[in-house]
Amino acid sequence: MVVMEQPDTVLITGASAGIGAAYADRFARRGHPVILVARHHARLEALAERFSREYHVKTEVLPADLTLPTERARIEQRLAADESIGILVNNAGVEDGAPLTQTSPDAVEAILELNVTAPSRLIAAMLPRLLARGHGSIINIGSILALAPELFDGAYAASKSYLLTYSQTLHKEVSDQGIRVQCVLPGVTRTAIWNASGALADIPERMIMEVAEMVDAALAGYDQGELITIPSLPDIEEWRSLDETRRRLLPELSRYVAADRYKSDIPEDA
Ligand SMILES: NC(=O)c1ccc[n+]([C@@H]2O[C@H](COP(=O)([O-])OP(=O)(O)OC[C@H]3O[C@@H](n4cnc5c(N)ncnc54)[C@H](OP(=O)(O)O)[C@@H]3O)[C@@H](O)[C@H]2O)c1
Repeated sequence: MVVMEQPDTVLITGASAGIGAAYADRFARRGHPVILVARHHARLEALAERFSREYHVKTEVLPADLTLPTERARIEQRLAADESIGILVNNAGVEDGAPLTQTSPDAVEAILELNVTAPSRLIAAMLPRLLARGHGSIINIGSILALAPELFDGAYAASKSYLLTYSQTLHKEVSDQGIRVQCVLPGVTRTAIWNASGALADIPERMIMEVAEMVDAALAGYDQGELITIPSLPDIEEWRSLDETRRRLLPELSRYVAADRYKSDIPEDA
């Protein structure tokens, strides 16, 4: 008798809408059981019901506000303990939009809690178990703003730079232990994240991607084993060349002596 291996369960944060809901749809369509996390219980329930009906997969909803330590802890405990969960999609995120000059300490903390602290804590909770089983995947939804801080105000771009660097470090540490890491850098994608600022109306249509197109491209990048996926970028060599330039700097970035341009022209005994 052939025993069919059960596909890994996928836990997706921010699964009630937009990019997260599309990820949940695509993984469920691929036959993966899905666990949907976000704040709006009813929206999660409606999606879970549709996935079980259309794709005949096991679904579960775990409503949680990932900025609240007690609610986040329930998700962390589940990721740490549930042997069936093999894929984590860290998707939940908010944009602030307000310039840093008008951002209060509480507002900056709020965005970091969801965009930085939550994904980092969820990964840290799940990683020991993934390492022990020797396989699994972590998908982090960053943004092209990680490469383009000029295009947006506030702490959002910096929060996405964090996810990019974090993913690169994580990949370095775990890729030889069976763990896949992918950081997706979407460009402007038509979702409700833009509703508060209304900024989407000012962005040329040629720069806006539909959610399904973005997520399908990101999953194609995942299937191809990419660490960094930039769905919009026509020529991947452009990214590789930027990354190679960065790598060429590495031997020069830490040396015993300061660069000549920082040396005073005035002799010390003058
Ligand atoms: N859309 C774009 O142009 C774009 C571009 C680059 C990157 N991204 C990134 O893509 C990710 C998804 O964004 P989206 O565009 O799909 O936005 P969205 O449509 O606004 O969806 C955001 C999701 O996050 C959930 N969420 C928000 N606050 C939460 C909290 N405190 N706790 C738990 N869940 C929370 C929301 O559900 P509830 O309200 O039910 O909690 C929702 O499911 C984000 O990380 C975003 O930064 C988006």
